[in-house]
Amino acid sequence: MSLLCRFQDGEQTLLIDQRGKRHLIMLRKGETFHSDRGWIKHEDIIGQPDGSWVRTSKGTRCLALRPTLAEYVLDMPRGAQVIYPKDLAMVLFWADIFPGARVLEAGMGSGALTLALLRAVGPEGKVITYEQREDFARRALANIHMRMGEVSNLAVRLRPVEEGLAEEEPVDRAVFDLPEPWHLVEPVTRVLRSGGVFLSYVPTIIQSHQLSEALRRHPGYSLVETFETLMRPWNIDGLSVRPFHRMVAHTGFLTVARRVVPEEGGAQPHVEHSEGH
Ligand SMILES: C[S@@+](CC[C@H](N)C(=O)[O-])C[C@H]1O[C@@H](n2cnc3c(N)ncnc32)[C@H](O)[C@@H]1O
Repeated sequence: MSLLCRFQDGEQTLLIDQRGKRHLIMLRKGETFHSDRGWIKHEDIIGQPDGSWVRTSKGTRCLALRPTLAEYVLDMPRGAQVIYPKDLAMVLFWADIFPGARVLEAGMGSGALTLALLRAVGPEGKVITYEQREDFARRALANIHMRMGEVSNLAVRLRPVEEGLAEEEPVDRAVFDLPEPWHLVEPVTRVLRSGGVFLSYVPTIIQSHQLSEALRRHPGYSLVETFETLMRPWNIDGLSVRPFHRMVAHTGFLTVARRVVPEEGGAQPHVEHSEGH
């Protein structure tokens, strides 16, 4: 395998100019990229190695890169608000998404989480995703096809998730990004296998609280925990070594629980996660 991976006609490229401005473009022979710093013919990028520096007609340097999934979800067109990469990373590990897993998702939104799930479950797995708004589902599917081409491990259900759960086959994991996940606590027990993981992302602690209470009251769940992820970038430049003045201070909370077999004849004694596990 060559160390130089070259750009091809019809693939996506991220152009980052000297100011750090980012442009996600689809390379097409005969087309030209225009910006206030000049233009670049796509043919000047096609055939160059991934990670090359190219120049605009005005001499501005741009870095041409195949976008990582994190770069792609931040720059792809959005319908609904996406889950940010720092939280997507946590979702994949805390919901324990593995190759071959069957995952139930709702709502699909712009497809950022769906993309992360599809890659993690791989071709042997399956993502079944619900979205009640057709315009959002179309946007999400366009984003997925642009990134992954045709996918065989995705099923999109255009309806509220509450209405479809009774007909679903068992799943290993259930992952939600919608406003009222507490309504799903009971119905999800009909599809989430024992030992499986229930995970929900919500923007406010009021929602997390309501969900957490519903999960704790239900004998079919245990190990309920809620947390948020703070990512503080640092400026490291010569003697200037300090945190950035600005950061994305808040995005959302993750609440995670395990699906368990209810104990016969009584309320489930709750098992707590040990702090800092
Ligand atoms: C914040 S967006 C999800 C964004 C998505 N996680 C992403 O990363 O791109 C929430 C989505 O849930 C959908 N939704 C809300 N309630 C729903 C329900 N009960 N069933 C299915 N979809 C629902 C909304 O239409 C919206 O598209």
